[in-house]
Amino acid sequence: MSGKLGRNDACWCGSGLKYKKCHASIEEQMASYHSQGYEVPHRKLLKTQKQIEGIRESSKLNIALLDFIGDYVVDGIATEELDRLIYEKTKELGGTPATLHYKGYPKSVCISINEVVCHGIPSDRVVLKNGDIANIDVSTIYNGFFSDSSRMFCVGEVSSEKQKLVHVAKECMELGIEQVKSWGLLGDVGQAVNEHAKKNGYSVVREIGGHGIGLQFQEDPWVSYVSKQGTGMLLVPGLIFTVEPMINMGKAKISMNEGDNWTVYTADGKPSAQWEKTVLVTETGYEILAY
Ligand code: MF3
Ligand code: CO
Repeated sequence: MSGKLGRNDACWCGSGLKYKKCHASIEEQMASYHSQGYEVPHRKLLKTQKQIEGIRESSKLNIALLDFIGDYVVDGIATEELDRLIYEKTKELGGTPATLHYKGYPKSVCISINEVVCHGIPSDRVVLKNGDIANIDVSTIYNGFFSDSSRMFCVGEVSSEKQKLVHVAKECMELGIEQVKSWGLLGDVGQAVNEHAKKNGYSVVREIGGHGIGLQFQEDPWVSYVSKQGTGMLLVPGLIFTVEPMINMGKAKISMNEGDNWTVYTADGKPSAQWEKTVLVTETGYEILAY
């Protein structure tokens, strides 16, 4: 695990401490879990203090952008307009929208309304209306560091059925995050999410998950929200990933828009809701970076 690094050499993470006083014990524990058959993260996924600080700063922009956009989420506004506002505010704050041109994605934000599960593309033809529920998913690059979070917004008067979906989807994300602790397992997150969704008569999207983030937009690990307790990657301090389950009011099955190759819908046309936070694994549990 520790390569050729001697215990008295400077730690690879750049802390300035000797390896034995820094990452040695974490990597010894990782090696021990690895020998017992657990999936352990690659060292490059464990962020250094300096990188964490950069990702924290990027996350502050992301939070500010979601705070900012809330006032504009009203009946009659086109999602194209919300996209323009996000683009301009991101630039004003010194950042760059991470989605823009990412794998060919054409816009600065994803806006997913009602039966759209995720990756809805802003358009002048998509206009918010009273009773809609909308996920606004913002991601930012700042000084080379990536952050990502999303929230649900209710437009005007929303049915109690949809309000409940939005509320339970948030609880699902929160219960998933509560599972995050060093030397826990990633599979525990998905099990907590899925159990809570099922208890409420909802289903969890299986094909799309969360992701590691920080130095790139989407890094390892891939995060399932239908995973099983006691499985998956070992959670180690310095690991950063998103918790962003998509919760469907009806069946879990999804379908892809063949025209734009981005927009994901529920197959049964029933509403879907999603909340997302970027989370850091710490020695004592977790720290929420972006929300
Ligand atoms: N922000 C999305 C996520 O949470 C990623 C969107 S990729 C895009 O995973 F290209 F569709 F924007
Ligand atoms: Co996102």
